Amino acid sequence: MSNRVEVFKAQLSPYGGLKSKYYEELKATVKQMTAPGKGLLAADESVGSVDKRFKGINLENNAENRRKYRALMIGAAGIEQYVSGVIFHEETLTQKMDDGSSFPEYLTRIGIVPGIKTDRGLAPLIVGAPGEQCTEGLDGYVARAQKYYKQGARFCKWRNTYQIQNGTVSEHAIHINAETLARYAVLSQQAGLVPIVEPEVMIDGTHSIEQCFAVSVRVWSAVVSALHRHGVMWDAMLLKPNMVVPGAESGTVASPDEVARYTVWALGRTLPAQVAGVTFLSGGLSEVQASEYLAAMNRPNLGIARPWRLTFSYARALQSSALKAWGGKDENFPAARRVFLHRAKMNSLAQLGTYDRAADVKGSESLYVKGHTY
Ligand code: 13P
Repeated sequence: MSNRVEVFKAQLSPYGGLKSKYYEELKATVKQMTAPGKGLLAADESVGSVDKRFKGINLENNAENRRKYRALMIGAAGIEQYVSGVIFHEETLTQKMDDGSSFPEYLTRIGIVPGIKTDRGLAPLIVGAPGEQCTEGLDGYVARAQKYYKQGARFCKWRNTYQIQNGTVSEHAIHINAETLARYAVLSQQAGLVPIVEPEVMIDGTHSIEQCFAVSVRVWSAVVSALHRHGVMWDAMLLKPNMVVPGAESGTVASPDEVARYTVWALGRTLPAQVAGVTFLSGGLSEVQASEYLAAMNRPNLGIARPWRLTFSYARALQSSALKAWGGKDENFPAARRVFLHRAKMNSLAQLGTYDRAADVKGSESLYVKGHTY
């Protein structure tokens, strides 16, 4: 027994986190990813999710079109001014730009960190409230993470979801999802990948912003407690939460000031200051809302402590208008790239707290899709 305690102690750093031979590299990656005025592009939709997107523009969902879709965005000249990392799906990590370089090679060359979604999607929780879900993908995880590292990825993302029903979520869902996220995080750090830990309290439902606040605090504190138990290195990970908002079917829309206050309060009550960055998902907010809310959190006079970089890791709120402008046609590439860069720039300004809604005209249509999956 004492021997096992000694072995465990030997694996810990003086500060309690696990050691990793990648520690310095992980911290450097985090620093690059959380550079001021930059955020992440989530382009990690599974083949099934791309299907829904392509149906909207009448485009066949094949590997080449999926490649073009991602090349459209990452090949936009100047993207590196606003984007510090891109999250890919497994298939896309090995796809190539027109010049023959792999996506990770290309991004690394222009100073953007390539990342990968390592979870294998949602599954029914079975026990818990009806419809609650857990996330699969831990079996054989270390070997997969090592392979992605060799393929050029330097960070990863894992998403668990929480569905508010009758104003709450089950204890069981909170517990099992926290354990899964924490185990994923420490295994990723051991393999050289910065883990983005994504506990998403879904926007679906009729709940109030106060209920979203209460559930978010419960969920995030359980995740943080599990991360402690598993020995995470806090300065070598990032959190990707929802913003605290009323349910999409509540009939209410919160002001940017309310969202900023509730969200930063909830983070302040739960997240250690050693975590360098919070990279929000857009979760069905409109493109303009996602920028406005982020800007409100970053405005100089918020008056609530926020020791972490607060930035974006959006999929829908960065891509939707660009996808429409592209429409699957090669001749629309330049126009679609302009639209994409506009959104990236708006979110960059939001990160800096200098976004001006009046100067940002497009994209106020809701992107909410009930029960959205990746
Ligand atoms: P949305 O910004 O569309 O919510 O997607 C972000 C993401 O990566 C969800 O896993």
